[in-house]
Amino acid sequence: MSVHSEIRKVTTHRLAEMKQRGEKIAMLTSYDFSMAQLVDEAGIDVILVGDSASNVFAGNQTTLPITLDQMIYHGRSVVNAVKRALVVVDLPFGTYQGNSKKALSSAIRIMKETATDAVKLEGGSEVIESVERILSAGIPVMGHLGLMPQSINKFGTYSVRAREEAEAEKLLNDAKLLEEAGCFGIVLEKIPAQLGEIVSKSLRIPVIGIGAGGGVDGQVLVIHDMLGITQQFSPRFLRRYHNLAAEIKGAVGHYIEDVKSADFPNEKEQY
Ligand code: KIV
Repeated sequence: MSVHSEIRKVTTHRLAEMKQRGEKIAMLTSYDFSMAQLVDEAGIDVILVGDSASNVFAGNQTTLPITLDQMIYHGRSVVNAVKRALVVVDLPFGTYQGNSKKALSSAIRIMKETATDAVKLEGGSEVIESVERILSAGIPVMGHLGLMPQSINKFGTYSVRAREEAEAEKLLNDAKLLEEAGCFGIVLEKIPAQLGEIVSKSLRIPVIGIGAGGGVDGQVLVIHDMLGITQQFSPRFLRRYHNLAAEIKGAVGHYIEDVKSADFPNEKEQY
């Protein structure tokens, strides 16, 4: 038996078991082969190929411009690296809203061309037809409620969602709807912690939070944010585990000095 065949791949079923036994689920984004390999080897449960690639990879202001082809490129790069984690690829803006047949063909392209394990999309009752149609093809779907960055032009701000009772009630109903439809999990973004806990306790499927408090079943962060590569973005929910921006700039500065002073390459570093 090879080393690789001994690795027990994380499945949607295993995530459900983790929730049942109260084991928290750790999820992070990745967008490229090298980072995904490190994140997977470190033992992460779920890797999200988020449409946040539009921001952190391409430098766009929002997630809206990223295309299906670009998400497929990122998804394939990540899947090529991952041996253990469950991989989820975001359906980008404009590829599933308002047309469930288009939603299915977008999801099928992602599944065929990336070999990912699952897809994620934003919204509740508004997109339920698309969710059901994708699920009917045997494609695992993860929901995403609360702050939905693809709807930023409707919300107007990236502030905390569902503080008002009516919005909180809709969010809970949407979460139940997604569970009933057959989603294997839901991401809740930037909502009050108390609501996060209520949603988690109301559902059997895992609820993964980003700024949704500690009462949910797991946490997700954008890898560039938690490693301190991005610097301007500092929401309250973000814990930085490293200051990689400083490390990278330091190393690059050192390299520049060595090149300018002709210290690099030395005799051992040439043929
Ligand atoms: O695109 C993304 O990175 C996401 C996370 C913020 C959950 O959807």
